[in-house]
Amino acid sequence: MKNDKFYVSYNTVHKLIKDLANKIKDSNFDPDVIVAIGSGGFIPARIIKTFINRPIYAVGISYYGIDNKHRNHPTKIQWIDEVQEQLKGKKLLLIDEVDDTRTTLAYCVGELLKYKPEEIAVLVLHNKRKEKDVNFPDEIKRYYPAMEIDDIWIKYPWDAEDIEEHTENEKAMLLNKA
Ligand code: G4P
Ligand code: MG
Repeated sequence: MKNDKFYVSYNTVHKLIKDLANKIKDSNFDPDVIVAIGSGGFIPARIIKTFINRPIYAVGISYYGIDNKHRNHPTKIQWIDEVQEQLKGKKLLLIDEVDDTRTTLAYCVGELLKYKPEEIAVLVLHNKRKEKDVNFPDEIKRYYPAMEIDDIWIKYPWDAEDIEEHTENEKAMLLNKA
């Protein structure tokens, strides 16, 4: 197996999130709500709820609109208009699976800041070490990446068609590195 892909199993995701939840608690950040960026942020958000039990709001962001046409910028396919008033003065924990170009994350931060939250903290499973297309605005004071990683393609378990094979691939990859 070539090492140009980075396999991540469900167990690994769970452990990364658990460790991060402890870090968040240690840093005395106590969010009021979790905002999950779909679809990659959905499963990490649900896992963190086990350790930081707050309501989850979901936002659907995609480069494909509901018309299935590809765009060169992220668009909203689902948003939280009904509850936007409730975000005023709240501490938000914004969750996605990966910080790649940062475009989607920065877009969501920008949109959520319009609701005047007290604070937005950003959590990702993986931050790719690379030049980002955009930066976070100064309002972002807390950034929690569970893992820093080179700019290679990450294989998440929820994309696997054969989860046993996926898990084996992670094992082989980790053995290879050891
Ligand atoms: P960013 O703010 O997270 O950096 O987002 P960016 O717009 O750069 O990401 C474009 C899409 O590419 C996102 O998916 C992101 O999750 C996905 N992506 C980037 N790097 C990787 C990777 O190494 N592995 C995998 N599996 N995906 C990656 P999306 O359009 O939001 O789709 P979704 O899968 O989250 O629904
Ligand atoms: Mg994503």
